[in-house]
Amino acid sequence: MDLNGKVAVITGAAVRIGRSMAMALAEAGVDICIHYRSSKEEAEQTCSEIRELGRKSLAVSADLSDSHQAAHLIMKTAIAEFGRVDILINSASVFENKNLLTSSEDDWDSHLDINLKAPYFLCQKFAKSMQRGQTGHIINLVDWRAQRPGTAHLPYRISKAGLVTLTECLALELAPNIQVNAIAPGAILPPPGQDYSYLEKRAEQIPLKRAGCPQDICDALLFLLRSDFVTGEVLSVSGGEQFTPGV
Ligand SMILES: NC(=O)c1ccc[n+]([C@@H]2O[C@H](COP(=O)([O-])OP(=O)(O)OC[C@H]3O[C@@H](n4cnc5c(N)ncnc54)[C@H](OP(=O)(O)O)[C@@H]3O)[C@@H](O)[C@H]2O)c1
Repeated sequence: MDLNGKVAVITGAAVRIGRSMAMALAEAGVDICIHYRSSKEEAEQTCSEIRELGRKSLAVSADLSDSHQAAHLIMKTAIAEFGRVDILINSASVFENKNLLTSSEDDWDSHLDINLKAPYFLCQKFAKSMQRGQTGHIINLVDWRAQRPGTAHLPYRISKAGLVTLTECLALELAPNIQVNAIAPGAILPPPGQDYSYLEKRAEQIPLKRAGCPQDICDALLFLLRSDFVTGEVLSVSGGEQFTPGV
């Protein structure tokens, strides 16, 4: 896809990896609808930096726990502002270290609603919004752990495994007009509440012996969006961590 003049919706795009992807796409000529929940100031700041690059930008707030309503609001707002959406990036996520014995029903619901149900309905609204002759891309942010058994982060892992399955199934259902791919980050940013020593410790067991950075995710994103013959793929950006015993 030639990115210049295209329109993207990115969930969870006010801060961290979502923000980096928004800036990278804006630099590539894309107009951006920034979704956020609580990071209002950061969302407005990101929008203003995108406008400084000469691209259009709009921030929309929605709680993805109310998945179906939020998906409706986000896509409706983006289409009202930009006329169409060409790229959907599902990046907003919750990540709690709960396992079977420590998780509550609320933990299950929040992970499945925000990490899987919201992307599901966003994909549905996006696909239904496509106009005749329009092509598009969906990129889902998953995790290399989604495809591996492990004892930590169980509801998270299950939600991301579901998002991998959604990616693969939609690559078939939405072909040939929409390509659907996933990026599976490894250690890119420390989780909220942790500092960079978390990543330094993780780096010891990463084959490339270092953590990644948001630019690594942006490079993978641009590759997938510019590729016209890749769909249904999960691209690990993890320094090879998916081949280690893992956590
Ligand atoms: N960071 C990593 O190293 C890493 C590793 C593996 C996978 N990933 C995946 O890569 C993606 C981006 O990672 P990240 O670390 O940048 O994400 P993050 O900081 O954990 O979350 C991104 C955004 O999700 C939004 N969010 C959380 N709960 C929400 C809700 N109920 N409704 C709406 N939005 C909600 C928050 O928006 P507000 O701030 O506006 O509330 C938050 O800023 C995620 O899908 C993550 O699972 C990241």
